[in-house]
Amino acid sequence: MGKETYQEMSSSTEETLIVVKPDGVRRGLVGEILGRFETKGFVVKRLQMLTMSKPQAEEFYSVHKEKPFFKELVAFITSGPVVGAVLSGKDAVATVRRMVGATKSWEAAAGTIRGDFGLGLTDNTIHASDSAESFTKEQAAFFSKTKG
Ligand code: CMP
Repeated sequence: MGKETYQEMSSSTEETLIVVKPDGVRRGLVGEILGRFETKGFVVKRLQMLTMSKPQAEEFYSVHKEKPFFKELVAFITSGPVVGAVLSGKDAVATVRRMVGATKSWEAAAGTIRGDFGLGLTDNTIHASDSAESFTKEQAAFFSKTKG
């Protein structure tokens, strides 16, 4: 077996969290967005629609608590239902982030979710964990009231 084949087989199945934000849910994009990840080959391991409470949102976005946009971010993410999904697959954190695109939707490349579906910043359709550590914290915050 060649080296590449061995690395491909042995490495890097991981999990990440995506959250379709209130703008994405309001605009009816949940199916389209989840479909993109499923079509790519990711497996949906957990899935939940909920409306975040203020404390839950502050916990979820705690890494940004010193940022000037924190209040606006919490107000927006609690403004309506969101859909969170744990996705499993090869290199999930980095691959999903590439599919999501740049934070500023107007700069996000065509073919990415933000590039194809919006022009916003706070309302940029979707959140995705930026590291394995963020995934662990964000999953705990998002599913804090959920069993399983
Ligand atoms: P998200 O991937 O959910 O992570 C933090 C969010 O903060 C980001 O997407 C944006 O929606 C939001 N945000 C609002 N203002 C800014 C800003 N000036 N810079 C970066 N992110 C911002």
